[in-house]
Amino acid sequence: MNKAVILAGGQGKRMKADMPKPLFKVLGEPMLEWVITACQGAGVEDICVVKGFKGEMIDEYLGDRCRTVLQAERLGTGHAVMQAVPFLEEDTEGDTLVLCGDAPFIDSKTIGEALVLHQQNGNAVTVITAELEDPFGYGRVIRSGSGISGIVEQKDATDEQKAVREVNSGCYWFRTADLIEFLKGLKNDNAQKEYYLTDTVGIAVASGKKAGAYKSSDPAIIKGANDRKDLLELNTYARMAVIDKLLAEGVGFVCTDGVIIERNVEIGAGTEILPGTIIKGWTTIGEGCVVGPNSVLENCTLCDNVTFNSSQASGSVIESGVNVGPFVHIRPGSRIRSGAKIGDFVEIKNSDIGEKTAIAHLAYIGDSDIGKKSNIGAGTVTVNFDGVAKSRCVIGDYSFVGSNTSLIAPVKLGKGVYTAAGTTVTRDVPDYALAIDRGELKINEGYTLRKMKKPQNK
Ligand code: UD1
Ligand code: CA
Repeated sequence: MNKAVILAGGQGKRMKADMPKPLFKVLGEPMLEWVITACQGAGVEDICVVKGFKGEMIDEYLGDRCRTVLQAERLGTGHAVMQAVPFLEEDTEGDTLVLCGDAPFIDSKTIGEALVLHQQNGNAVTVITAELEDPFGYGRVIRSGSGISGIVEQKDATDEQKAVREVNSGCYWFRTADLIEFLKGLKNDNAQKEYYLTDTVGIAVASGKKAGAYKSSDPAIIKGANDRKDLLELNTYARMAVIDKLLAEGVGFVCTDGVIIERNVEIGAGTEILPGTIIKGWTTIGEGCVVGPNSVLENCTLCDNVTFNSSQASGSVIESGVNVGPFVHIRPGSRIRSGAKIGDFVEIKNSDIGEKTAIAHLAYIGDSDIGKKSNIGAGTVTVNFDGVAKSRCVIGDYSFVGSNTSLIAPVKLGKGVYTAAGTTVTRDVPDYALAIDRGELKINEGYTLRKMKKPQNK
């Protein structure tokens, strides 16, 4: 079976943070995650990650999704792959993909096409390459006949070799059994005193095996980040790639300032995204919506024709024709049903809001189920937490909850219930009843005038 080894031992000193470089994020996901999804997209599921600097952070991030192996000393890319030999020896039948955990834009299509070439040509190793305007710093690919004869690192290259613009992406297919053999032949007699994985190409050719290169037309597959400025460049590249794809799919942008949309987001044609909008995770947005300005959505579903203005939502479903904002916070576990209106300074958490219900201003609705066509007045608060446990509130269809009503959960209002402004509801209210809880209003006439006459108030 085919497998992959991902090299993620690097520290990234120039990032100036105590974190392995592959965990730095591009468009919301660690670079390592991009590389893992590229493998999986190409059908390579059996993955071993070589960790080094702060390896425990890699383990913590991955959980039990992939195996890891520790490279205790950083002695080069070849040495890193040697640490994975026990993993390779478990099944030596197929081919092994080796990739760098800090080059996020290698993609499934390139990996798949390189494998086809690798197998058709009967190669022992196939290097994925690309041509760069400025190849400085990369390993140069030395072609010979129909294959390649070696890869020369910048520091070891002659002037003639430095002129080559085809470079090694750091991503390769190896016949697994051959890779194990080649690793045994690596030496560190080079400028950096490292065990170079790239020397496997020369070893293959010397032992009469075939080495080839698959040249990608997209130089982005090589892009990596050495410092924060590079990382910003990767983010900008990824951000614009997503926006370009959405533009082609009919999504509207009048200005992309501050717009960050992660790569798993789907948006329907005719939807407009306004400046300052950040859309994260597995969010799906339908057609004909207007989202933004200055909004954040994470792991949400918005159906068609939703207006979402200057608000934030996560882990929730917002059905068709709903109007949200400005300044609304919708927290996980919520469903806002068709035609509802959620207005300014409303917070909703883990609640189901019925069709065409209006919560137009200044309310907290938590752990509640509200029916259809109800009206929730300003200042309504569901008192869902007694300091120990959370409980639910239920409000029936066609209810009218007066301003400044407090609902002490658990409590249930039936259908068509009214509550008077300022009422604190402490027990269930039956259908079509009015709940009113109010002390007698006292009016003290002439109070202000008497107060003003007192000497100290003059
Ligand atoms: C390597 C290639 C070079 C290629 C370039 C593409 C070698 C000798 N050179 O160079 O031909 O053009 O990648 O980016 O392979 N790593 C470890 N342990 C180590 C050393 C490296 O895990 O001991 C990991 C790094 O974290 C990184 C990857 O291997 O993810 C590549 O290492 P890096 O030092 O960046 O290699 P380059 O010198 O850039
Ligand atoms: Ca590198």
